[in-house]
Amino acid sequence: MTNGRTKIGIIGCGDVLDMYMSSSLAFPTIEVAALVDNDPVNLKARSDQFGIPGMNLDTLLSRDDVEFLVNLTPPAAHAEISERAFAAGKHVYSEKPLGVTLEEAKRIVDSARKYGCKLAGAPDTLLGAAHRKCRQLLGDGAIGEIVSASAVFMTHGMEHWHPAPKNYFQPGGGPVFDIGPYYIAALVCMLGPLRSVSAISSTGFAERTVTAHGRNHGQVIQVGTPTTYHALLEFSSGVTASLSMSWDVWHHGRGAPIEIYGTEGTLVVPDPNMFGGTAIVRDRNGHETPFDSSQSLLGAPHWKVKDKYKLDREIVLTNYRMAGAADLIDAVRTDREPFTSPTLVLHVLDAMESILVSARERHPVTLSTADVSLPRMPSEEDIARIVGN
Ligand SMILES: NC(=O)c1ccc[n+]([C@@H]2O[C@H](COP(=O)([O-])OP(=O)(O)OC[C@H]3O[C@@H](n4cnc5c(N)ncnc54)[C@H](O)[C@@H]3O)[C@@H](O)[C@H]2O)c1
Repeated sequence: MTNGRTKIGIIGCGDVLDMYMSSSLAFPTIEVAALVDNDPVNLKARSDQFGIPGMNLDTLLSRDDVEFLVNLTPPAAHAEISERAFAAGKHVYSEKPLGVTLEEAKRIVDSARKYGCKLAGAPDTLLGAAHRKCRQLLGDGAIGEIVSASAVFMTHGMEHWHPAPKNYFQPGGGPVFDIGPYYIAALVCMLGPLRSVSAISSTGFAERTVTAHGRNHGQVIQVGTPTTYHALLEFSSGVTASLSMSWDVWHHGRGAPIEIYGTEGTLVVPDPNMFGGTAIVRDRNGHETPFDSSQSLLGAPHWKVKDKYKLDREIVLTNYRMAGAADLIDAVRTDREPFTSPTLVLHVLDAMESILVSARERHPVTLSTADVSLPRMPSEEDIARIVGN
């Protein structure tokens, strides 16, 4: 730490790096001090783009002034990178999924423990203003007793916006592993641990042609993993929910990504892939009360980008992707578990893997982590400290 700023190193300078770099501006206590990528041409381009030194992993791991690493490599590389980081005594925030299987992810958690390092993992959107508000509303009984829920993510996939989408259509990819973490983590943080899942899957398109700009434009991808899943979820509390995740849908008429149904009304939950938005409570008579989160910490829209789904349109996102790393730094400083703790991340990954197993083997699956005791959720004071206020 110099001048009150904590130096971090980022490994993996692909598509998601822009999100992290833009978000880092919202965390004045964080300084991105090093970039690593195993593609030297890309590393040079990204290093020039952001004016941050590029280096190889060994050099980064040997630097005493960088204690915290953010792992933005593709999922198949997460384990090797995170384990090498722990062996060098670094704390790691990892993008999702933590590992490509629950078993691999558990090994990563054990490795962190062995070397006395802290580990946190995506998604960190649960730290966002809108999701804090939703949990507060549920806790305050705004919709009475929770009965059930439904969650829907249905788009046409990655090939029209991601410059390198191939791996997302292979085993280890697919909508449940890619986007499921946001939805499942949001549900679990609102409704508690999951007990069991039951799912079916299908593949809508055997091939995908990359239409995103860049080096892979025109590439034809043979799809190697199901791209539509419908799952039934049973929570330990007795609450039941449905979850649909698909990359085979051009358009749908479903308004909200997540709805929670209670004895007194419905809570409409904003996009769990983002930090902000307006939660809405609808009472028994359909009267709506909106809860705008744009004035709250990690709730103000700040990042103007092209809409991934309608490229001719610009949107302003509430995308504080560096929040998880800031939480990890605060967790080390205050000697606590990060809010995106290994316990939560492993439970969410267990749910994701169980959905795939259930769909493949055609039977309900009880989660091996069903009896997990989930960590507490952050208070407003925690968030203020994490963002450096
Ligand atoms: N792209 C998104 O919108 C998005 C959003 C949220 C989370 N994520 C997550 O972020 C991670 C990265 O996704 P992405 O879309 O940026 O991927 P990407 O394929 O665009 O980029 C990955 C980068 O990592 C580099 N890399 C691969 N193996 C490496 C290694 N062993 N050492 C160093 N560098 C290595 C590659 O050269 C590439 O530049 C994934 O875990 C993904 O799930 C992506």
